[in-house]
Amino acid sequence: MSEETTAPYGPTIKRVRTAHLREMKERGERFSMLTSYDMLTAQVFDEAGIEVLLVGDSASNNVLGNTTSLPVTVDELIPLTRAVSGAVQRAMVVGDLPFGSYQASPEQGYLTAARFMKEGGAHAVKLEGGIEMAPQIERMVKGGIPVMAHIGFTPQSEHALGGYRVQGRGDAAERILRDAEAVQEAGAFAVVMEMVPGDVAAEITRKLQISTIGIGAGKECDGQVLVWQDAFGLRSGRMPRFVKQYADVRSVLLDAARAYDSEVKSGEFPGRDHTF
Ligand code: KIV
Repeated sequence: MSEETTAPYGPTIKRVRTAHLREMKERGERFSMLTSYDMLTAQVFDEAGIEVLLVGDSASNNVLGNTTSLPVTVDELIPLTRAVSGAVQRAMVVGDLPFGSYQASPEQGYLTAARFMKEGGAHAVKLEGGIEMAPQIERMVKGGIPVMAHIGFTPQSEHALGGYRVQGRGDAAERILRDAEAVQEAGAFAVVMEMVPGDVAAEITRKLQISTIGIGAGKECDGQVLVWQDAFGLRSGRMPRFVKQYADVRSVLLDAARAYDSEVKSGEFPGRDHTF
């Protein structure tokens, strides 16, 4: 069966590709993206019909327990990327290039991105930055690597940006628009916009031919992305305003762990059914 059999893309499509996202934008259809860092969540999200899975550098916070995304390394992210790409049938898997692995030069960026494709099995890579990252994007695209850009609030630059804050308010909107145009011009197939005012993101979405993906950027983007532990309630504590919580996975796990602990301690588990 061909990959382009039906639209909208249901079970008949084999793999979501950059061309499909472009066609969805042309038809005014939205798509969804979630982070995933392991085989089992990748299978679930793929089955749910999520078009794009991002093996985010947010694994630094959400898997490895760091307080920012800065410490995570290429060697730490590649095995996670391989787990996700090996688990999905339909979703596009995007590997997130970590801090310091591409900013130094287009050549450095290309070599890192190639590792995500070869060793991680990623279908595309994501990098943070706008105009200043255009040479990196061009180099990767020339070398056959699809690139998703990430502008607005870029967590790898949290210290340079002065902390977590909305980008592109007032006069700064022009800068975000120029970043968006620059990454499109350089050959990116999509651009994540993080913590950008909704009206600015809407204007950029109208102006660009490539897909925009919002996280705290309002409803007019072509797609939306959330970190799954935030969206499905595995993480506890204060959430950014843009997160909607769809489930309370932490409570389910906590209850299950408590029930197991109590049955082990009381001698109820394992019972006859679980004994050879
Ligand atoms: O690493 C990540 O999770 C991301 C998303 C927030 C877009 O970059």
